[in-house]
Amino acid sequence: MTRTTDKVALNEWQAVGTVEEIISGKRRNTRLLGQDIIVEMDGEIPRMFENNANGGIGTEHPAQALYGHIWTTLGTPVKAPLDMPEFKEDGRRLVVCGALTVRASALRIVENFLDMAHFPYVHTGILGEEPITAVNDYKIEIREPEDEVWATECSFFQPQAAASADDGQVSQYMYRVSSPFVTVLYKTCPVVEGAWDLVGIFVQPKDEAECDVHTFMLVLDETSTMSDLVHFQQEIFLQDRSILENQIPPGLPLDPMDEIAIKADGSSMLYRRWLRNKGLTFGTHRGDGSSQAA
Ligand SMILES: [Fe+2]
Repeated sequence: MTRTTDKVALNEWQAVGTVEEIISGKRRNTRLLGQDIIVEMDGEIPRMFENNANGGIGTEHPAQALYGHIWTTLGTPVKAPLDMPEFKEDGRRLVVCGALTVRASALRIVENFLDMAHFPYVHTGILGEEPITAVNDYKIEIREPEDEVWATECSFFQPQAAASADDGQVSQYMYRVSSPFVTVLYKTCPVVEGAWDLVGIFVQPKDEAECDVHTFMLVLDETSTMSDLVHFQQEIFLQDRSILENQIPPGLPLDPMDEIAIKADGSSMLYRRWLRNKGLTFGTHRGDGSSQAA
């Protein structure tokens, strides 16, 4: 596809690669919102250029390094990238898990991330297990002025909630969506009482129905090795991928009438309503048949 004209999507900051992979000398040739781009480091300074059809380097756009990733935009952002103060807390380990390509809409990927009902069926023995399948009540809200979707007071019994968990626990969760493509979950830390571990995804929408999903963890865990932590997260996400790549329609429906079809899931409904109010079309299912994701 060609570059989208959807200003809502264009005006967001997007993660498009890890600092580590690009510092190591590899230019990253990738795509964002239908536009081929080149991401590189000029010393310590991240840069992003359009990659023209003839192979030439085109217009430069703003770029910055944040949370181990390079963030960029093809538009004029109205909002700063995700603010994650926990990043500066002592004792936290940032685990950059790398990108996984998923042939699905970014919005489907974020919505799936918010969904607890699939834990016992898709992440059996890790994030859930039959017969404990009910999703307990939780609270949802749009936070202003941040303009973020939050779901709080979520809880779920988990046989192995984290790489550091020895036993099952009832995990407490909070979900936060800071942009249509960026979401973080705060989850009971199994090793430090009263603390949260953070797990998040920065979804890079390459096209309407193909993304690179950059996953990270920000955890209080001094014992697990880096590869244990990465493996734990990748195993979970690979389980999600096969579900995501088979969702029909591929684009996320935002029509209020479609909400009736969603299983009682408040966070999903609020996310869809929030996207609809923004006027986002990229990655959505349009009933008029114009969905490029279909
Ligand atoms: Fe999942």
